Formats: sequence, structure tokens, C-alpha cells
Amino acid sequence: MSESEHGSVLVQVRDLIKTYTSGTETLHILQGIGFEIKRGSSVSVTGESGSGKSTLLNILGGLDCADSGSVMVGDAEIAGLSESALSVYRSRRVGFIFQFHYLLKDFTALENVMLPAYIAGVKKKDALEKARLLLKDVRLEDRLQHYPSQLSGGERQRVAIARSLVNDPDLILADEPTGNLDSQNCALVAELLYAGAEKWGKTLMVVTHDRGVAERADVRYTLTGGVLETGGFK
Ligand SMILES: Nc1ncnc2c1ncn2[C@@H]1O[C@H](COP(=O)(O)OP(=O)(O)O)[C@@H](O)[C@H]1O
Ligand SMILES: [Mg+2]
Repeated sequence: MSESEHGSVLVQVRDLIKTYTSGTETLHILQGIGFEIKRGSSVSVTGESGSGKSTLLNILGGLDCADSGSVMVGDAEIAGLSESALSVYRSRRVGFIFQFHYLLKDFTALENVMLPAYIAGVKKKDALEKARLLLKDVRLEDRLQHYPSQLSGGERQRVAIARSLVNDPDLILADEPTGNLDSQNCALVAELLYAGAEKWGKTLMVVTHDRGVAERADVRYTLTGGVLETGGFK
């Protein structure tokens, strides 16, 4: 990212509406969400369980569709992308971190991190080199050949952080990345997540129940009643 790009708007969300219908009931989940995220900044979203945080994050990541409204990421309107463009968007321009790590159990930490780059066409040697570098950033340089089952919960999430960065995406979307961790691991994973985003100049949006994780963000929102309010944990 060049200096001139830093601070420009990366994400622009307007009038986002999402409802779910089950039986005769209509759930109004997102009721006109609008916000912007500047390049290189971090945003946290807190809110009660069921308030629509994951729905919002998934719409930004191209994993779910809104009923109406607009999501621009860079110069792309997500709703207007073809299936193939959407798949490129999801794999190259966004890095996902979920509460459950979704690492591939038959692959080592190093392979899990290098694979998205290798699949995207990066040479094996270069993908491995990038993966090693990223795993060093999350202080797992001595766990490269470990399989997910041989890693602790915190270590798995640190692998997931490294993996989210390997394709050099514009935007990191993290949904309860520390939701499954004890407080010590939570603090370390949060530290490495924010530090990784900052080091690589990434824009970060993190959904979290944890006050400490939320408060580190440059901009803090609470999702309540289908709209975003400024300021987390009132
Ligand atoms: N596919 C779906 N069909 C019907 N209701 C859904 C679906 N996905 C989510 N919901 C409902 O939408 C609400 C918001 O879900 P979610 O975004 O996962 O909330 P959060 O992440 O804040 O806990 C919840 O009440 C959930 O039950
Ligand atoms: Mg959720």
C-alpha cells in the first residue's frame, strides 16, 4: 500500500438491509447499516448474540447476500460481481478468520498457510517462504511441521491469522477470533492479529465479545436493533 492510499476509504457500506424469513416470521436483522472503513485502519463490532454481527461480516466477505443496499470494497460493488469474480474476491482480496480455525487436519501448519497462495498460482517455493515468514510473525517458527491436532487452540488461531494474510488481501475479516480461548490466549491472539494487520498495512474488521479485543480497534461499533452505533461496550 502506498502512502497516498493509506487513510483513503477501502470499504463503503450503504443502507444495508437483511431479513430472514422462517415460516410466517420475518426477522429484520440488518435495518439500514451504513459505514466506511479507511484503508489500514481497524474496526470492531460488538453486540448481543443474534444481533447480526456474523451476517454483516459475511456480507462484506461475499459469503452472504444482502436484500438491498451497497457494499463497495475498493472499486468493486460486491453485489454486482459474477460468481467467478466473487470467488476471486473471497480468495484474494479478503482474509477470513473464524471462531473455529477451519485448518485442514491432514496438512501441517506450514502447508495450511502456504496452500491458499499455492492454489492462487504462487510458485511453491515462494508460497512456502511467505508462509514461513507469516508463521514467524505469529511466533510459531518452531511449530511449522505440526498438524492442527498437535497444536493448542491459541496456536491454531495463530496459524489462521498467518493464513488470512498469505494472499496479501486488502481486508481481514475476523469473526470471534478469540471466542474459544482462555484469557491468556485471547490476549496473545488479539495482539498478534492487530500487529499482523498493522505490519502488513491491512484493514481489519473484527467481531468480538471481548472488551479488550474490541477496545484496541481504531473505530468501535455496537450492532443493536439492526443498526450500528458508534462506541462499543457502553
Ligand atoms: N440462514 C438463516 N436463516 C434464518 N435465520 C438466520 C439465518 N442465519 C442467521 N439467522 C438469524 O439471524 C440472526 C443473526 O445471526 P448472526 O448474524 O449469526 O448473529 P451474531 O453473529 O450477532 O450472533 C440470528 O437470530 C439468527 O438466528
Ligand atoms: Mg456470530
